[in-house]
Amino acid sequence: MPITVLDHPLAAHYLTLLRDKSTEPAKFRTLTKKLTLLLIVEATRGLTTVPATVETPMEAYSGRKLGGGLIAVPILRAGLGMLDPLLELFPDVSVGYIGLERDHATAVAASYYAKLPPKIGGRTTLVLDPMLATGGSASNAIARIKEAGAGPILMLSIVAAPEGVARLNEDHPDVAVFSAGLDRELNDRKYILPGLGDFGDRLYGTE
Ligand code: URA
Repeated sequence: MPITVLDHPLAAHYLTLLRDKSTEPAKFRTLTKKLTLLLIVEATRGLTTVPATVETPMEAYSGRKLGGGLIAVPILRAGLGMLDPLLELFPDVSVGYIGLERDHATAVAASYYAKLPPKIGGRTTLVLDPMLATGGSASNAIARIKEAGAGPILMLSIVAAPEGVARLNEDHPDVAVFSAGLDRELNDRKYILPGLGDFGDRLYGTE
């Protein structure tokens, strides 16, 4: 599926501030939340709603409410920075976690933790991983989520590299990818250019 890149002046503004190397962790976290809110709104456009009638103080109103419950799976640790805005917009979301650590020398992701909600079957699942670089971690996480029987899977990232998008398209053509930015390329250490450096380090001040 083609990637959807946020096309909104606010997204461009927040993403530029996020990339700035002088942005401190507290502001980095706030900007991540704001960008994720915009991403969630875009990514969940297709959610189904069901008819619901309420009484306004004036009369009955035939409206719509959200249907089935969502699942969120942040990829540890950087994906945690994207979880709060999802909980805010969808307070009933069930949350699973997948821990994948990237070896800084080889850039290969190894799994150290996985805990998915028991009733994942058929439910729309949002995978949260801010940097879609090689696509290795995301592809690995999505394979596990599919094994557990999840319904439609949406991948949300803050910055994506063309290499990561291509890998996901190849491994999981059914997964829709949303990102606040699509960058130029990966460097030889598999960091995104122009990128923003190590997202987890900048989020948690561990540089
Ligand atoms: N992960 C990061 O945090 N940054 C990159 O540039 C690539 C992967």
